Amino acid sequence: MACIRIVRRLPTPADLFRGAADEFVRVGHAAIAGNGRFTVALSGGSTPRSLYSLLAKDYADFSWSRTHLFFGDERHVPPNHPDSNYRMVNEALLSKVPIPAANLYRVRAEMPDAAAAALDYEENLRSFFQLQPGGFPRFDLILLGLGPDGHTASLFPDSEGLKEQSRLVIANWVEKFKTHRITFTFPVLNHATDVMFLASGADKADMVHQVLEGRNTPPFPAQEVQPEGRLIWMLDEAAAAKLRRAGHSLQM
Ligand code: 6PG
Repeated sequence: MACIRIVRRLPTPADLFRGAADEFVRVGHAAIAGNGRFTVALSGGSTPRSLYSLLAKDYADFSWSRTHLFFGDERHVPPNHPDSNYRMVNEALLSKVPIPAANLYRVRAEMPDAAAAALDYEENLRSFFQLQPGGFPRFDLILLGLGPDGHTASLFPDSEGLKEQSRLVIANWVEKFKTHRITFTFPVLNHATDVMFLASGADKADMVHQVLEGRNTPPFPAQEVQPEGRLIWMLDEAAAAKLRRAGHSLQM
């Protein structure tokens, strides 16, 4: 199935997060109508916090009881640590919506051994999606961010994790931070039905242009994300400022 790339440019950050929230809910309703459940992996970092807050504020009546939440990556820290993606999502969303605890799949990043935490999370995915050996999960939606260096999830340029083709979740060593990050691998990202990137602000404009319109060797990690269904880039005008093209959809 060829990936359809959709690039949406929204005037302001508020419009961006509103558009992303509407898309989250639209995909969720379609998944629940089709399969009785919505499987989604959330992104970390700072950008999506406003999306999660908006979902909590305006979509508390969403079908959270049929939603299963995972994390696309996590920092190797306990859940109450300021750098924890789980902590950010819990403060902005989980603590405010009626999602059953059984529907939450947190990375046990407090485990001292990052590789063991990654394996533990991989086993969670394998049992939840009832995967055959060698099988990959098909998330309805995976949210991703974009780092100024072109990384996404915790797949950083020049990191070992870029080559991984059989594991679902790995402990990826990030040299510049001198730490491991627990992250989904490209096969998991690319098996998703839909992937939605969120990028906001002028500091992302150069990399957004390079990722969407550049031909880089090697490609930036974010350029390697080609899901089975739709690849949705949600951008505010500041992040889209260096794009030559207006918003568009493109068969990849
Ligand atoms: C993380 C993220 C990472 C993030 C980018 C962008 O754990 O940090 O998963 O991939 O999406 O670094 O981060 P900002 O949104 O903070 O710019």
